[in-house]
Amino acid sequence: MTELATTFTADELQRAAREHLWLHFTRMGGYTKTEVPVIVRGEGCYLEDVNGKRYLDALAGLFAVNIGYSYGEEVGQAALEQMRELPFYTNWSYAHPRAIELAAEVASLAPGDLTRAFFVSGGSEAVESAWKLARQYHTARGERRWKAVSRNVAYHGTTMGALSINGIPALRTPFEPLVPEVAHVRNTNRYHRPADETEEEFTAFLLDDLENALDAAGPDTVAMVIMEPVQNAGGCFTPPAGYFQGVRELCDRHGILLCADEVITGFGRIGHWFASEKYDIRPDILTCAKGLSSAYASIGAVVTTERVIEPFLAGDSMFTHGITFGGHPVMAAIALKNIEIMKREGIVDGVREREAMYRSKLEQLLKLPIAGDLRGAGCFYALELVKDKETRETFSEAEAERLLRGFLSPELFERGLICRADDRGDPVIQISPPLVAGEAEFDELVSILGGVLEEAWERIEH
Ligand SMILES: Cc1ncc(COP(=O)(O)O)c(C=O)c1O
Repeated sequence: MTELATTFTADELQRAAREHLWLHFTRMGGYTKTEVPVIVRGEGCYLEDVNGKRYLDALAGLFAVNIGYSYGEEVGQAALEQMRELPFYTNWSYAHPRAIELAAEVASLAPGDLTRAFFVSGGSEAVESAWKLARQYHTARGERRWKAVSRNVAYHGTTMGALSINGIPALRTPFEPLVPEVAHVRNTNRYHRPADETEEEFTAFLLDDLENALDAAGPDTVAMVIMEPVQNAGGCFTPPAGYFQGVRELCDRHGILLCADEVITGFGRIGHWFASEKYDIRPDILTCAKGLSSAYASIGAVVTTERVIEPFLAGDSMFTHGITFGGHPVMAAIALKNIEIMKREGIVDGVREREAMYRSKLEQLLKLPIAGDLRGAGCFYALELVKDKETRETFSEAEAERLLRGFLSPELFERGLICRADDRGDPVIQISPPLVAGEAEFDELVSILGGVLEEAWERIEH
C-alpha cells in the first residue's frame, strides 16, 4: 500500500481538525469528546480511516461516488493530461474542448430533447441556476413569473435559492427570510397513507394537492415545479403510476417549466442514465451533479431543451448568470473520464441487472420488528424505522434523536458501516452504495445493519 500523502501524524491530523476545520452539517461540539473521523483511503466500496480501520461505504460519499473509489489512477491521468494542456479557462464567453465534449456527451445520454448543458460546480448551484433560468425564461417571453413549487421534506441544496426550495423546515428557518416564493406540496410518501387507498387514488390525491397549490399561488406566477424523480429526504419516495404524467400535464396547462432534480438519481443510481427516462418525466430542465463525475470532481450541470434556450438565442438576449468555475476544463475532463468508465464497465446496466438482488437482500431486514418499510429503486433504498409495525407508529422527536443520533449512527460506524440514519422526515436508514456494489457488499451491509437494528429495538421502551 502506498504511503499517505500527508506530512501530519494521526495525532496532528486530529488536533488540526479540531482546531481549524469546520465540518458541514456537523455538531462540532460533539467532537470535543470523540475523535473526528478522518478518512484517508478508498477502494471499491470501502474506505479506510487514519487508524487503518475499514468501512463499507453504503452511502457512496453522499450518493455520489457511483464508480466506487478505485479509479483514481485512471481519472487522475485524465486530469493530469488536461492540466498539461489547459489547466483552466472559463465558460464566460469562451468554450474549450472538454466543456464542449462533455456537453455533447451529456446531451447524448439525457432523455428526450434535453440537449443543452450549462455547467456549474455542484448540486446547489445547479438548482439555484435552474430557478434563475426558469425566471429569466419567462421574463424573456414577456411574462413575469418567479415562484417555484417543490415538495415537503425534499432536499435541494443550501444556497439561498436552493435552500428556499427545500421542503425541510429545520434547514430553512435559521435563514429566513428566504427567497420568495416557494410553495411546498405533498411528496409521494405512501407508507403513512390509508392502507386501502389504491395507487390510482394516491396519484389523484397528490395531483389534486399540486393543482390546489398552483391555484392558490396563481399559476401564471409560477416559473418552475421542481421534483426529484425519487425523493431522497424522507427516504426514497418513488412516484406512483401516472404521477409524473399528471405533473407534466399540469405544468403544460399553466405554461410552467418542469425541473427534474437528478443530482442523486442521475448517472445510474436507479439503473438508467437518468431517472427521468425510467419514469418518463419529460422535464424541461434537469439538474445533475454528484454522479456526473462520480464526485471525483466538483461539477454539476443544468441540462435543458431547445425550447428553453430559444428565447436566449434571439438578438442581444442572454442568460444573465455565470460562475467562474462552471465547466472547468479539469473537472470536465474528469467527468468525461467517469462517463467513459461507466460505459466501459457497464455500470448502469449492472445496476438494473442487480436490482432484484439488492432488493431481496434488503428485504431480509423487514423481518426485524423495527423495520417498517423498504422503499427505492436501482441501487437507492431507504428502510423506514417504526415503533409499531402494525400501526406504523413512528418515533417521537426525542426517541428519534436518542435512537438515530445517540445510538444508530455511531454504532453503525463503530461496526464498519457508513450509511445514514436520517430524520429529516420519519426516521429512515439510507442505503446507497457505489454502483459497483455486488452480492458480497450487500451481504455485509445487511448483516451489520441487521445486528445494529436488533440491538436498537432492544433499547427502545415498549
Ligand atoms: C436532490 C439534490 N439536489 C441538490 C443537492 C445539493 O447538492 P450539493 O450538495 O452538491 O450542493 C443535493 C445534495 O444532496 C440533492 O440531493
